[in-house]
Amino acid sequence: MKKTVLSLIIFSFFLRPIAKADEGMWLPMLLGEQVYADMVKRGLKVSKEQLYSMNQASIKDAIVIFGGGCTGEIVSKEGLIFTNHHCGYNAIASASSVEHNYLKDGFWAKSKDQEISSPGLSVQFLVKITDVTDKVNERIKGLSATELTQKLPGILTEIANKETEGSGYEGRIASMFKANQFLLFTYERFKDVRLVGTPPESIGKFGGDTDNWEWPRHTGDFSIFRVYMSKDGKPADFAADNVPYKPKYSLPVSIKGVKDGDYSMIYGYPGGTNRYETSFGVKLKTDVENPSLVGLRDVRLKYMFEEMKKDPATKLQLAGSYAGIANYWKFFDGETQQLLKYHVYEEKQANEAAFAAWAKGKTEYDNLFADYQKIYDAWRPYAKQRVYLNEGILGSPLVAFASSLQKLDATLSKKDATKEEITKATDAVKTARANFIKSENITSDKNILGAVTQMFFNDVDASQHPSNFYHWLGTTFGDLKSKKSYEAYADYVFSNTMILDDAKWNRFLEAPDTATLHKDAAYMTASAFNSNFNNNYAKFFTDFSAQNFYLGKTYLKGILEMNKGKKMYPDANFTMRVSYGNVKSYTPRDAVKYNYVCTLSGVLEKYKPGDYEFDLPANLLEKAKAKDFGQYMDATAKDIVVTYITTNDITGGNSGSPVLNAKGELIGLAFDGNYEALSHKIAFDKNLNRTICLDVRYLLWVVDKLGGASNLIQELDLKKI
Ligand code: ARG
Repeated sequence: MKKTVLSLIIFSFFLRPIAKADEGMWLPMLLGEQVYADMVKRGLKVSKEQLYSMNQASIKDAIVIFGGGCTGEIVSKEGLIFTNHHCGYNAIASASSVEHNYLKDGFWAKSKDQEISSPGLSVQFLVKITDVTDKVNERIKGLSATELTQKLPGILTEIANKETEGSGYEGRIASMFKANQFLLFTYERFKDVRLVGTPPESIGKFGGDTDNWEWPRHTGDFSIFRVYMSKDGKPADFAADNVPYKPKYSLPVSIKGVKDGDYSMIYGYPGGTNRYETSFGVKLKTDVENPSLVGLRDVRLKYMFEEMKKDPATKLQLAGSYAGIANYWKFFDGETQQLLKYHVYEEKQANEAAFAAWAKGKTEYDNLFADYQKIYDAWRPYAKQRVYLNEGILGSPLVAFASSLQKLDATLSKKDATKEEITKATDAVKTARANFIKSENITSDKNILGAVTQMFFNDVDASQHPSNFYHWLGTTFGDLKSKKSYEAYADYVFSNTMILDDAKWNRFLEAPDTATLHKDAAYMTASAFNSNFNNNYAKFFTDFSAQNFYLGKTYLKGILEMNKGKKMYPDANFTMRVSYGNVKSYTPRDAVKYNYVCTLSGVLEKYKPGDYEFDLPANLLEKAKAKDFGQYMDATAKDIVVTYITTNDITGGNSGSPVLNAKGELIGLAFDGNYEALSHKIAFDKNLNRTICLDVRYLLWVVDKLGGASNLIQELDLKKI
């Protein structure tokens, strides 16, 4: 049985570069004839120049990086932007108060003067892409693995800055195919972005974490913003007299709807994949990294949720951070399950065997997998320690903040530190603490700290404990096996730390000294675990990372050589990509078939009055019962289609991405992936992978019929046929 699977897999590995069209996150600038021809074969009706052009307005000009990790699209001549609700989430939460709770009640600007400025939020337009491989290679030739990992980031920044100097643009160089190609992406960043509209969370996050990463899905995951520029058309900070951005291109919006099999194309900024991860990496992930992370997040989420349920102010305070932790808690849990279920470890081993067979006699690759084995063997014993530090101990917001004070400690400890340096370090800490206090919920954090300190003790190999710390905890607070001791310890930290005490904190900042800092209970915790790691294990991690990067570069070089002439796409790295596929139903398991659309009727089926995740606003219930669907009704379903699925290849970062039809018109917003294909960062499954999209007609129905914001509908270029 295994052998059959293995040989099948070897076969499919060689096919991978020309795999089914659905796999692939293509660079729009470098589509090539082969990929474009395939897009046309699949149904695309627009020219290559309309997809991406340096000389004329093209679709790429309507696609933006939204904030720090999402995609958005321009949909009107006045800089209107559609993105996901979960992408606007922090901005919506920040604009909210218990009295004006936009997260809970939604918000609709009926005119531009009602729009709400979102400090800290920006959008970036892609200006151009330039190949700078030769320039980078010139600078990195001959570097050892360690030198390369240390120096490369600085070299890339330096070259990017030089190339964009004085242009007013930002340049960032992305490494493609694991540092075998380097492309400079030039962006123009706009910082005056305003909240224009959002449905209440009961629509925008309907189904919550229960439905997250799942199909069927009934979430209205969208929010609306507008980007502004200065009067003379330049990027500018917020100013009342800024004017709406005049885009080079904005997307027309189609209300014709989708059918099973229709062409669909998604532009956006997928954040990261690792499709050439080795079997060694997969194993470490499924054995150690993912389960550790999931277990620790379970506990953190549980304590946060307990407090969020009790009080709307706490809910608003913790909402953004909770959503982020929960999203990837479920992702990594699902990823492990799917990696195991689809035998991805064995598949990777087969890929490596195939590669080794090809590489026979090429000395450069002789020791590749033996070297991989060596570096994983050396690092594996400490991998858990690292996750328990980052996701556990530093998962306590108080300890994470205390840990950030190490910079101040370093400055204070420097013999020749100037007064200016100290003032600078103190000022930075002042601002950071103010932000920390705003976001801090003491009860949940205290529970988290007690729990993760105990988990570290129980789960991490005893030889790797910060032994002085646990010795102190045991002798001061009682038996290290008892939960009570950790609770007493956490109580002690929270009642004594100066970080949570304004008077003590201010006194410290007036004349900061290391002795006071070192005595602080929260700081002591942070430094006990940090020093334990830094003094004993960081070296292993640095070596491992450097070697892994270097070997990865070599492996990919070989893979590219082996597949010469075939069209290949580089791993996602938060640079603009286009993916194409079709609207498509699927069979998740034996005897079950999933339809390709979900409807408003399904939203009503899931409705649970008063529920945290499945409640609905009264006006939705009303309009749905009255079947007041207007021009947004789907002719076949005689209902509002809320979501649909496609075969497109996307990943986190693509959230908010436009889904376009064959004519390049907006038909939806990508917002999630399905559970059955959560191994997608490492192995794309061409049968089961689906992108979950919001149907743009549901968005429009909510804006128009529930929000009453016909002003926004009028701004759009609606296509009815
Ligand atoms: N899974 C989605 C993504 O990463 C985010 C969904 C947010 N919704 C939620 N219930 N957490 O793209």
